Amino acid sequence: MNVQPEPIRYDPCGSFIAGGGIGPSDIKAITPQLETSRVEVLHDLSLWLDGNSVPADKHPLDAGFIDLPDRLLRDYRAQPETSELGKILATADRLREKVDRVVVLGIGGSYMGARSMMEACCHPYHNELSRAERGSRPRMYFEGNNVDNDAAHGLLDLLRTSEGLKTTSDRWAIVVISKSGGTIETAVSFRVFLRELQAALEKNQDSDLGDLVVPVTGNDGKLNELATAIGCRDIFRVPDGVGGRFSVLSAVGLLPAAILGLDIVQLLKGAVMMNQIFREAPVGENPVLDFVAVSHCMESLRKADTRILSVWSKGLEAVGLWYDQLLAESLGKNGQGALPLTVVNTRDLHSRGQQHQEGCRDKIITNVIVDRFRQDPLAVGYQQWNHDQLNSLSEKTLPDIMYAALEGTNQAYGEDSRPTANLHLPQQNEASLGQLFQMLMLATVVEGRLIGINPYGQPGVEAYKRNMNAILRANCGD
Ligand code: PA5
Repeated sequence: MNVQPEPIRYDPCGSFIAGGGIGPSDIKAITPQLETSRVEVLHDLSLWLDGNSVPADKHPLDAGFIDLPDRLLRDYRAQPETSELGKILATADRLREKVDRVVVLGIGGSYMGARSMMEACCHPYHNELSRAERGSRPRMYFEGNNVDNDAAHGLLDLLRTSEGLKTTSDRWAIVVISKSGGTIETAVSFRVFLRELQAALEKNQDSDLGDLVVPVTGNDGKLNELATAIGCRDIFRVPDGVGGRFSVLSAVGLLPAAILGLDIVQLLKGAVMMNQIFREAPVGENPVLDFVAVSHCMESLRKADTRILSVWSKGLEAVGLWYDQLLAESLGKNGQGALPLTVVNTRDLHSRGQQHQEGCRDKIITNVIVDRFRQDPLAVGYQQWNHDQLNSLSEKTLPDIMYAALEGTNQAYGEDSRPTANLHLPQQNEASLGQLFQMLMLATVVEGRLIGINPYGQPGVEAYKRNMNAILRANCGD
């Protein structure tokens, strides 16, 4: 059945306020520049697709993420088994049958998307459930996103068994993700976890190592060579022209998501739908351009250079962190770039709320709101002891309280001329996430073109790597 995703919706009304906000006339004034930036972003894609030589001022140009969802779905429909998506689904099925835990190693763009999908779409306590309750979907852990000794030890403790890896419930696999194949955090963790897996398999003279290590990497590089030497059965590629933080809808995010049993076709359909809206819809009906318009006008006209993504669901925190990285690494260049910050409400109303209500007027708050929760609403309920005086609210539910808090917060900000916008997800599911990922990636590159910053590449990250390598290798002799 060809189910079309329900569209996500961006509503900027809370930013149209006198005093601290902007007005529709500001949006109208920048509409021609937004249109030009959209054309430029789509032209970048054609440059990349046609293999034309890229002008020097556009290097690097990683526009391949834009039509990646369209290409993946098209190929899958044409060749369900041999396409990239078909292979991802087959590997995911294979791992689901063989193992009960998967350790995903990766950092930055090679990690945050997968984690955000797990947190948003799986049971909130997925890893605590029994295999039957998980529908045989493996537990998933993320490492290699740091070099934290005790955190790595903690996970190794969980994976260790005295008997080796005899039964499915003991068995685990590694998915190691690094586009460059040379990122030290990931590479070091891979060594540590590979050694552990090797030793565990050897206890039972098990020769499955190549089946239980699945790399996702570029076409060349150290990880690719290592994977070949190990004899990995499946090696997935980060497609050329797709940068790390733009790779969530490639095998980088899709393989872990498929292992968790998420509907990656719906995820991609959501992204395809957002692409179409981005290409065709005018300003005012185009979430990508509208989001850029409000964020950019708030920054350039009101000096609001702190962008708060206020997610009204615990399961969306990691999506917010994914976006923090996307915006910070893409536009934080040449002394420019807004500061992204994710908050989870209502939790953070009790930590950051005071500052957002009365602190510096340097913020635009975008609420990410889930319109329908997955589970039945939990009622407050009647209680014989009414010392908390909640019996009058006994018929209210947790969503009623959440939406009242949201409305009350927006109202309080509005009354003090503090701008907000609302981004509605019909449900917290794969189709909404696919749209949201693609919307925010497109918005980031559109804004980059608008302000004259190349959104691709992250030259500033190299400085710490150079220094760290020099410090580590001093007197090492290799
Ligand atoms: O956006 C990016 O390119 C970075 O955040 C990378 O994803 C991150 O540095 C990890 O790189 P790699 O996948 O090469 O290990």
